[in-house]
Amino acid sequence: MHAHVPVWFQRQAGRSLPEYHELRREGSILDTIRIPELAAEITLQPIRRYKVDAAILYSDIVVPAECVGFGVDVKPGVGPVIENPFERRADLDRLRPLEPETDTAHVLDTIKILAGELDVPLIGFAGAPFTVASYLVEGKPSRDYAKTKALMLDDPALWHDLMERLTDLAVASMRSQVVAGASAVQLFDSWAGALSEADYRTMVLPHSTRVIAEVSELGVPTAHFGVGTGELLAAFADSGADVVGVDWRIPLSVARQRTGNRVALQGNLDPAVCLAQWPQVEKTVRRILNDNGDHPGYVFNLGHGVLPQTNPDILQQVVELVHAEGQVAELPRAQPARPHP
Ligand code: CP3
Repeated sequence: MHAHVPVWFQRQAGRSLPEYHELRREGSILDTIRIPELAAEITLQPIRRYKVDAAILYSDIVVPAECVGFGVDVKPGVGPVIENPFERRADLDRLRPLEPETDTAHVLDTIKILAGELDVPLIGFAGAPFTVASYLVEGKPSRDYAKTKALMLDDPALWHDLMERLTDLAVASMRSQVVAGASAVQLFDSWAGALSEADYRTMVLPHSTRVIAEVSELGVPTAHFGVGTGELLAAFADSGADVVGVDWRIPLSVARQRTGNRVALQGNLDPAVCLAQWPQVEKTVRRILNDNGDHPGYVFNLGHGVLPQTNPDILQQVVELVHAEGQVAELPRAQPARPHP
């Protein structure tokens, strides 16, 4: 029995869609996320347009930290910015435990709306402790993660305490999303590729592993994603996640070897390729599908998020091509999002 390769796109909701610009209010995305009807509608837009096989909740990785009052904003065109970045032990007090039902009631309301509307799985998510820490410590998007690495190396005890707090936030947030109706979760460690494997394994992986373990208890599939993580893929697979994300820097077949066939893979089309003319895009998509062969543990996706200047028609053609050409042995799937009792 054969099935088509499932496909969805990271950042499928958002600025590449004209219908998003029509709905999106001025100001911070965090304000838009606070309006459940709006956030649900934005989540549904790419499902209607592309017929992708999963929805991803319209929210952001900084939401839990913002909702416990750390003082986070997301500046359009920049990303997360922090008024008073994390510097010292006393700053741990600014990261109290998340009470999802009250702190993030709006997120759970969005999921409940979606669970009643979707006939494909809804992917919930959280930022992994390292990537969220990189924003809290740097205070803004960074190229070199200099402050983050300095804290990690100079004060490992404080670093691990910070990781523990952020692990608790991610666990509480993702578990509440699952209870509200999310059918799978993805842990985004987008910037972990900045670390050596040795530092990643000692300073980061134990915490991400705890996130995955405590969410997996609820019986939903877990995915773990990062960019530039070719050298970390074996370690990512050690996190216990069911699915590991692969960017475009290495072929899927190499990622398969590095993860020793222990996990399903997700990726790995370069989002920038989608800015080229269709024949170039088609060639790359076919190469990726061929490279996968008929391996059942595979989800087609981009190696990172959809770029804002992407033509949505190209993404639609990608979905059609993957559905037509990508054949895999039948595999168990996440259940569709389910209505909240
Ligand atoms: O379709 C989806 O993927 C769902 C929604 C989603 C958003 N952010 C919405 C968003 C998801 C899964 C995220 C996760 C997220 N946020 C990550 C991990 C994924 C990745 O891309 O690596 C990271 C690192 C962030 C932090 C963040 N938030 C960045 C870097 C930015 C972009 C800044 C910019 O303007 O270029 C944001 C803002 C953001 N989050 C936007 C969207 C649609 C765009 C801005 C907007 O509409 O205001």
